[in-house]
Amino acid sequence: MLKLDKISKKAGVFTLSDIDFEIGNGDYYFLIGQSGSGKTMILEIIAGIIKPDSGNLILNGNSIIGLPPQKRNIGIVYQKPSLFPHMTVRENIAYPLKIRKYSKNHIGEKSTFWLMKPGFRIFCTAELIIFLAGRCKESV
Ligand SMILES: Nc1ncnc2c1ncn2[C@@H]1O[C@H](COP(=O)(O)OP(=O)(O)OP(=O)(O)O)[C@@H](O)[C@H]1O
Ligand SMILES: [Mg+2]
Repeated sequence: MLKLDKISKKAGVFTLSDIDFEIGNGDYYFLIGQSGSGKTMILEIIAGIIKPDSGNLILNGNSIIGLPPQKRNIGIVYQKPSLFPHMTVRENIAYPLKIRKYSKNHIGEKSTFWLMKPGFRIFCTAELIIFLAGRCKESV
């Protein structure tokens, strides 16, 4: 369960005030709003990329407000994919496992598992990121 408890953030002239909501385990939650209404800012606060001015973030009963992004285990997928263009598709998939120091065997198996997923294998054939179709970049 993820709970936002009175999250507030001022950025220039834009302010998010007292954002409160809860997402249960296994639930899907859609954040809908006009362009500029603060959706990305809320997601970046949850991921730890932006530090709120006040409020709390509770994940499965524990506050994660003081944790850096890499210790939260929360992913964020942007409209414009953030991939390493100098690495292959496989290397991009393997990267988060490599920095978490998983064994080479585990990384190889996991990367192959995702690369061989039917939808990915059929449509996303390029080895280099620059040749990958837009939807395939999002999948990576
Ligand atoms: N670091 C910052 N400093 C000042 N203003 C910022 C900063 N980051 C975002 N903003 C402003 O905060 C507001 C919310 O931006 P945000 O990107 O969260 O909107 P959004 O709802 O995700 O929009 P879109 O639907 O277009 O993606 C915008 O007015 C934006 O210009
Ligand atoms: Mg946005």
